Amino acid sequence: MKVTFLGHAAFHIEGKGASVLIDPFITYNPLAPCKVDDFMRINYILISHGHSDHLGDAIHLGKKTSATVIANAEIAGFLKHKYDLNTHAMHIGGSYNFPFGRVKLTAALHGSGIDYEGETLYGGNPHGFLLEIDGRKLYHAGDTGLTRDMELLAEEQIDLALLPIGGNFTMDIHDAAKAVRLIRPQMVVPMHYNTFPVIQADPIEFISLVNGAANVQILKPGEYIEISKIA
Ligand code: NI
Ligand code: MN
Repeated sequence: MKVTFLGHAAFHIEGKGASVLIDPFITYNPLAPCKVDDFMRINYILISHGHSDHLGDAIHLGKKTSATVIANAEIAGFLKHKYDLNTHAMHIGGSYNFPFGRVKLTAALHGSGIDYEGETLYGGNPHGFLLEIDGRKLYHAGDTGLTRDMELLAEEQIDLALLPIGGNFTMDIHDAAKAVRLIRPQMVVPMHYNTFPVIQADPIEFISLVNGAANVQILKPGEYIEISKIA
C-alpha cells in the first residue's frame, strides 16, 4: 500500500485492489501538490466529516470518476440526493469489506456541518477511518480532539496512523503525542497543520514530544510512504 500526502488531511492510497482518496481537499488547499484532475482513475473517496476542508473536491471527483463515496449516512445521503453520486453509507463502529479492503468508522470528537448555499446542513457525526488494505492497517483520525476511545485502537496493531496536530480545531502537538501513546502505532504521519494561520504547528517539536513512542515521518505534500516496507 502506497500512501501519498496531499497536504492538510488529504491522502491518496494505492493498494492492489483500488485507488482511494481520503478527504480530497485539493482545489482550495494552499498546500496541494497536485490538481484535482490528476485523480480521474480513482475508485473510492472517503470523507471523514462535512467541513469544506474535507469534503473538498468530492462532488467534482465523484461526478467525473463515478467513484463510490464512503461516509457517514448523513453525508452519503446529501451527496446521493443533491448530486446523484455513488455512495456507501456507514456509521461509527461499523465496518464493511470493500473490494480494496476493510473499512471501519472510528469515533472522532468534532463537528460535521455541511456548507450548502449559505446554510449549514446537518452532517451527522464526524469520524475517522480504520483501513485494512493488503494486510496492513492504516488509521486516518479525521479531525478530532484527544479521546480515550483511541485506546481501543492499540489492539489493532496499526501500521500507520495519520493524526492531526495543528490545534484550534483538533488535537495540538501535545495532545497528539498523548494520542500516539494510546494508539501505539508503528508509524505516525502528522497532518492538518500549517495549512492556515490558525493551525500553525512545528512537526519537529511533535517528534520530540512523541519521544520514540512511534516512528514519526514528516511528509511534505506530494511525498509518500510504502506501508509494505514498514518493518
Ligand atoms: Ni473539520
Ligand atoms: Mn479540518
